[in-house]
Amino acid sequence: MSNRNPVGVFDSGVGGISTLQEMVRQLPGEHFLYYGDMKNAPYGTKTPEEVRVCVREVVRKLLERKIKALVIACNTATSAAAAELRAELDIPVIGMEPALKPAHELRKDGQILVLATPLTLRLEKFSRLMELYGEGAVRVPCPGLMELVEAEREEEAREYLQRLFAGFDMEQVDAVVLGCTHYVFLRSVIRDMIPEHTALTDGNEGTARQLGRVLAARGLLNEGEAGSVTLETSGSEASLETMKRLLEKAV
Ligand code: DGL
Repeated sequence: MSNRNPVGVFDSGVGGISTLQEMVRQLPGEHFLYYGDMKNAPYGTKTPEEVRVCVREVVRKLLERKIKALVIACNTATSAAAAELRAELDIPVIGMEPALKPAHELRKDGQILVLATPLTLRLEKFSRLMELYGEGAVRVPCPGLMELVEAEREEEAREYLQRLFAGFDMEQVDAVVLGCTHYVFLRSVIRDMIPEHTALTDGNEGTARQLGRVLAARGLLNEGEAGSVTLETSGSEASLETMKRLLEKAV
């Protein structure tokens, strides 16, 4: 395995592009191959087994391209399939989880709202995280929100979130966790809707750091040359254009 082999990254759609942006920023020498599985999106309202079937197919395609590491830039796919992938693959697998730990560290005595897909919030992995850092935390499933991000319908996403936050006394909320990579594209929309003292956390920075650590530990870092990004999808030509546009968008 050469250091110049690509890092494979995937999500059900454009969400993982927000993670990819951070990985490119932290690891500019790496060659990234990003796969958006739009044909099978959303993952977050499927059963775990259905998600595993989709994920196996994506990973099979990425392995054909000789990836040196796999980043699951999707909280839902990580919860459903990371353990299985780690047991089967001989390359490093980096997954994601809702950034509840940093939110817990910032918490005073208020609530933490964890926004994520229904599947992420109901699987065992999240229950374990709640046992460790869940004091004051509330599960807030957001079915339908990723679709609005995919379609770049920001105004409708704003209305969706307004309805959602209306159910809480936001002054009592210490942190909002963006537990789905799609929601990171709504960071500035959400920032404008919540009190100034409420923190917003997501897992992108930590995931990029973890990738850097894992590559360094295995002597697989590619440094000293300019990296690259290749975007692919199981979806339409239009979704490829959306991915390109969002890769350039500041989050
Ligand atoms: N972006 C994905 C995540 O982080 C999920 C979106 C979906 O397919 O439902 O969970």
